[in-house]
Amino acid sequence: MSNKINISLLPLGKSIEVNSGTPLKDVLHEFGVEFPCGGKGTCGSCKVKLLKGKLVIDDVQQKKLNKLKLTDNWRLACFCKAETDISLEISQFENIILADNSTFDFQPQTGFGMAVDLGTTTIVVQLVNLENGHVLDSVSDVNPQARFGGDIISRIQSCLDGNFEELQNLVRSKIDEMIQTILQKHPVNISKIAIVGNTVMHHIFSGLPVNSLSFYPFYSPNLGVQELSNKELNWRLPDAVRILFFPSIGSFVGSDILAGIAATKMAENKKYSVLIDLGTNGEIVVGNCDKIICASTAAGPAFEGAKISQGMRATTGAISSVSFENDELKTHVIGNATAKGICGSGLIDIMAILLNREQIGMFGEINSGEESIPLSGKVSITQQDIREFQLAKAAIAAGIQILLNQMKISYSEVDKVYIAGGFGNFLNIENVIRTGLIECEANKIVKLGNTALIGAKMLLFEDETFIHKILGKTTHFNLEGDPNFQDIYIEKMILL
Ligand code: FES
Repeated sequence: MSNKINISLLPLGKSIEVNSGTPLKDVLHEFGVEFPCGGKGTCGSCKVKLLKGKLVIDDVQQKKLNKLKLTDNWRLACFCKAETDISLEISQFENIILADNSTFDFQPQTGFGMAVDLGTTTIVVQLVNLENGHVLDSVSDVNPQARFGGDIISRIQSCLDGNFEELQNLVRSKIDEMIQTILQKHPVNISKIAIVGNTVMHHIFSGLPVNSLSFYPFYSPNLGVQELSNKELNWRLPDAVRILFFPSIGSFVGSDILAGIAATKMAENKKYSVLIDLGTNGEIVVGNCDKIICASTAAGPAFEGAKISQGMRATTGAISSVSFENDELKTHVIGNATAKGICGSGLIDIMAILLNREQIGMFGEINSGEESIPLSGKVSITQQDIREFQLAKAAIAAGIQILLNQMKISYSEVDKVYIAGGFGNFLNIENVIRTGLIECEANKIVKLGNTALIGAKMLLFEDETFIHKILGKTTHFNLEGDPNFQDIYIEKMILL
């Protein structure tokens, strides 16, 4: 059994327990540390400062650090393994949340705000200094509604079964608790709170009926911005705090995607961009400053592990990447642990390898006729998993194609393809392209992380005109309503 050790992260004030020998790369991505050069030691973006404890430094890393002019206890997280208790300063945490400083214009305001990403699975709350846009603290927690089911359909069903109030209270009190946790550390005056989330989260949180979201045409008359008072939420804040849940774009495209559009600046650029959220629902947005179209796909949470026999989210024990070296499969398991399953990025890798090695055919069939292919330990990939991957991949690829057709543009006219979603840091872009999930050049693809959270922070600085500007040019498109949907979907199932 491996020894457990502690890594404390400053200025976050967070402490995580991991197995001794865990690569920092596995655990720090969640806290905003990015690995743009993939660990080659050339970018320096993964630098962390060792405040306490030991992180062994070898000659290669020392040379890289010298070249990057990093002295004074700096380490490159991509090179290091945590062997004993350590304290690290990670300044990237602010950078990623701040989005792109050079292009994110905001009017400085006085006071502080909170940005809230209310996800189906996870909730994140951040404290933001409205004078300079800096994130002072952040907490994340599991959405307590999870006990009523992992996806929005089961949450709607639970509401219909009479649990609406319980689901509402659970999420309201969880956010209150998270806000108070931050305020205990930073006793400041909050003037506003910006909440984003999908339409079902928006409705349950705001106390709006979800019934009409349960049947065709999945319509709701209540998609607009909801302003709630501190009193009705029963939150422990002064009454003057403005609490806004931002508007949804469509019945199944919520303000998390609105925030994503804000984070990509798609609505301001003449050039076209595509935003793909590979999270629980698989949403796609295509557009520019003139017109934006968005859609939700039927991909389901396959990239988060659902429906894959040994699928799991990108947490400890998940195979996050797979490569083929010296005639054998090499897997990387998050947290230096025994492989328990495979997450979305690992699944994409293994599919690309099987294609390259011609172990599977164009219809996804395992050429050897076997029912599964072993990966690591007890984890293997089955014929059914490959089918599920094909379905999810086809749903995303067809969705993009249909939206591009609707915009009357081709992939070659797209300037950037942004990928949002939890496992983004582990994604191998070449493999994403190899499997046909995204069909453009690698240099156009940008892994943007949690775009809902970046956008929510930006929305703290915006007034309603900004929101209306985005909403005014954004339409929701029902993919299944396209007469070519079936043909395109089947075409995208094929693995070439
Ligand atoms: S990821 Fe580029 S130096 Fe570590």
